[in-house]
Amino acid sequence: METPRSLILLSSLVLLPLLLITPASAQLRSDFYRNTCPNVESLVRSAVTKKFQQTFVTAPATLRLFFHDCFVRGCDASVLLASPNNRAEKDHPDDISLAGDGFDTVIKAKAAVDNDPQCRNKVSCADLLALATRDVVVLAGGPTYTVELGRRDGRISTIASVQKHLPHPDFTLDQLNSMFGLHGLNQTDVIALSGAHTIGSSHCSRFSKRIHRFSLQNRIDPTLNLTYALQLRQMCSLRVDPRNAINMDPTTPRSFDNAYYRNLQQGKGLFTSDQVLFTDARSKPTVNLFASNNDAFRRAFVSAITKLGSVGVKTGNQGEIRKDCTRVN
Ligand code: HEM
Ligand SMILES: *[C@@H]1O[C@H](CO)[C@@H](O)[C@H](O)[C@H]1NC(C)=O
Ligand SMILES: *[C@@H]1O[C@H](CO)[C@@H](O)[C@H](O)[C@H]1NC(C)=O
Repeated sequence: METPRSLILLSSLVLLPLLLITPASAQLRSDFYRNTCPNVESLVRSAVTKKFQQTFVTAPATLRLFFHDCFVRGCDASVLLASPNNRAEKDHPDDISLAGDGFDTVIKAKAAVDNDPQCRNKVSCADLLALATRDVVVLAGGPTYTVELGRRDGRISTIASVQKHLPHPDFTLDQLNSMFGLHGLNQTDVIALSGAHTIGSSHCSRFSKRIHRFSLQNRIDPTLNLTYALQLRQMCSLRVDPRNAINMDPTTPRSFDNAYYRNLQQGKGLFTSDQVLFTDARSKPTVNLFASNNDAFRRAFVSAITKLGSVGVKTGNQGEIRKDCTRVN
């Protein structure tokens, strides 16, 4: 009876350090809900498809929501939490512009999943957001991919945690690389994920400095295509409602394609953080590759968004599975 015991001891001596050094992402599995909610993927897909058919904004809104969730406290659905005193992540200025349709998409997916008695309160809101994100990318014409699952929902959401964790539209390449680097994403990932700006829109205030409507010099950012800049000025004139939003991809705004990179080649990156990917010699070759090779872009996007989906995830008995995605249990 000595052998099994020493075997257990030996294996735990070997396994324990392994467990400790294994990154959290390795704990996510594509078949995580095989026994608890085997139809989770199709339930989410039908709910998201229905929502997408009602409004295209579903796609950009959900994709951006996923990014903002993952960069702040990891992909733990903390961005979905509401606070009674407006002090949650979603109340931060960087998150105020998150379109309501993204939140609504997760609520709809949750309702669809919970409608199946077997699945009720078994699937985390963080996983629902990850699945819905994959589905909207596909619906908008982007690549499909396998979503790794098993994330748990966080219990904390604060305005303070948003500060310093999200990139700003005036960032340089070094600033982008270091902020993404903090989350284990490299420059290729920055460039591939920025391709998300191939769909959706932005408010004029986020790039108005580049067209200098208010300055005495009336100067236009020299990296911006002049024709495009003048068009932007018109679209963002003072007569226009400030709630107005401008398509970030002026050519194919409703198609998840690589036109974003061809726009950059023509000086039509809406934000400094977009255009710099082409003007900086270190990232330009990758922009040129993605502009000419859609498959290379799609492959890089899948790899990068999979990495994004594993950022700071809570697994095992960390966190919880929320009964209501907007509230801790
Ligand atoms: C690289 C640094 C990034 C910066 C500086 C940035 C900044 C912004 C800004 C300022 C907006 C406009 C918000 C508004 O005025 O409504 C925006 C929109 C958007 N961003 Fe980013 N973003 C970045 C990366 C990403 C990534 C990695 C994703 C997803 C993978 C993403 C997805 C989106 C989408 C889909 C929209 C459109 C949202 C809508 O139409 O509702 N962005 N981004
Ligand atoms: C970025 O990471 C990916 C793997 O996730 C790797 O294939 C690629 O070579 C890396 N790129 C750079 C510039 O380090
Ligand atoms: C600027 O945009 C115009 C019109 O869309 C295009 O024809 C031109 O090639 C662009 N200029 C540069 C420098 O790429």
